[in-house]
Amino acid sequence: MHHRCLDCGATTIRWAGRCPTCGEWNTLVEEDILDPLVKAVDALDLRAEAIQLASVDVSEAAAVATGVGEFDRVLSGGLVPGSVTLLGGEPGIGKSTLLLQVLAARAAKGHKVLLVSAEESAHQVRLRAERLGPIPDGLMILGTTEVQAVLAVVEDTRPDLVVVDSIQAVSAGPTGPGERRTSGVPGSVTQVRESADLLVGMAKSRQVATVLVGHVTKDGGLAGPRALEHMVDTVLSFEGDRHHSLRLLLAVKHRFGPTGELGLFEMGDQGLNAVVDPGRLLLGDRLTGVPGGVIMPAMQGRRTLLVELQALVAPMALSQPKRSVVGLDANRLVMSLAVLDRHARMPLGNSDVFASVVGGIRVTEPAADLAVIMAVVSANLGHPLPPDLAALGEVGLAGELRQVTGMPRRLEECARLGIGQVVVPRSTPPGPDEVQLLRAESVPEALALCFPADTPWNGSRPSA
Ligand code: TYD
Ligand code: MG
Repeated sequence: MHHRCLDCGATTIRWAGRCPTCGEWNTLVEEDILDPLVKAVDALDLRAEAIQLASVDVSEAAAVATGVGEFDRVLSGGLVPGSVTLLGGEPGIGKSTLLLQVLAARAAKGHKVLLVSAEESAHQVRLRAERLGPIPDGLMILGTTEVQAVLAVVEDTRPDLVVVDSIQAVSAGPTGPGERRTSGVPGSVTQVRESADLLVGMAKSRQVATVLVGHVTKDGGLAGPRALEHMVDTVLSFEGDRHHSLRLLLAVKHRFGPTGELGLFEMGDQGLNAVVDPGRLLLGDRLTGVPGGVIMPAMQGRRTLLVELQALVAPMALSQPKRSVVGLDANRLVMSLAVLDRHARMPLGNSDVFASVVGGIRVTEPAADLAVIMAVVSANLGHPLPPDLAALGEVGLAGELRQVTGMPRRLEECARLGIGQVVVPRSTPPGPDEVQLLRAESVPEALALCFPADTPWNGSRPSA
């Protein structure tokens, strides 16, 4: 009697707990159990037919607005019936809150919607829902961790929106009598995939828009949700800092429209509210006239956000200089410090350097290089920069300033929020009239424009 691995298809004579070929556990099954299945597959009519692309009916792919404006904006209109969306984010960031608001908004329009709560009890969800506003009649809750139970309830009640919170907390039990249970505990990659597979099948066959919640750790790790990205139509990422109120919603993948739209929310006592003017929110508590801070127009998706970058330079506390970032790319900071050392005669090898973005935003784009350098120099010299000054540009290893994407939009946002001068790479095209462009070819040139002449790099001030 032979055993076949369900994963790689290899056969062995002896049963073992682990497939000797691919190394997967609990995948070996006796051939004669598989036999009927193999015969059934053989009997299938596998003739497929190609059709004209232009004749494909697209009327079903229309998005349906949920009623939560920022959510709909990111999805270019709303959720498409039969589509599967994965909402990823760190625990505690507000995924459950956001989706409860989406469900309530949709139900308030008279639709039947279902929340599958696998992590929280119906009691807990009810309490939260009360904080968020009136609870519409069409909002149903199912407390279960069994995917089969979800399928059964959807079959019975036919909702048009299902939220599964979370995909890591559910598991797929045996699908029929005599079938083996898939290996792995809830949350393991096998279970997450198996569960998602069934839910994707449900979404497609019943034309129900389905949203899966997936917890992702800070570094984007956690195999589970990442392994799902190719199975779903849309991947949304909900970001922010738990200690700040601002939340960003981004489409990482979207089969029904462009990615790059940014949704902005503020977490309040009554749930998430759309942020109308992020500039004011982010720059609201800024201290001006203090060294170490500079404004930078950052791109988040296709939207521009004015953020404040801060730096602190302190005498080295331990035997090694410390470089620490919050919301910035640590490698780029190290590189920028090397550029300062080599090209602007400002060695910081005996100093600890801290750099951060205020407001819980992440700005890892190279366009932040110059602003980071300006903040570090300002902190190191104890020389504050003008409050209406912004800096923007990628820094090359030769100390040159390079052009960045979306320059016109960034400059417009600067103008809108009253930024009077922006240090930019020399090749920058003219911007709005209200903004004075301080063009510089290199880091020393940019520094010479903003700091007093008696600094280490004096003499490199451009002759013009
Ligand atoms: P939650 O939606 O449970 O996060 P996730 O599902 O991503 O794990 O939100 C958790 C946090 O949001 C929690 O710390 C409390 C906070 N919160 C508010 O500040 N205001 C509110 O109205 C609600 C419902 C939650
Ligand atoms: Mg949750």
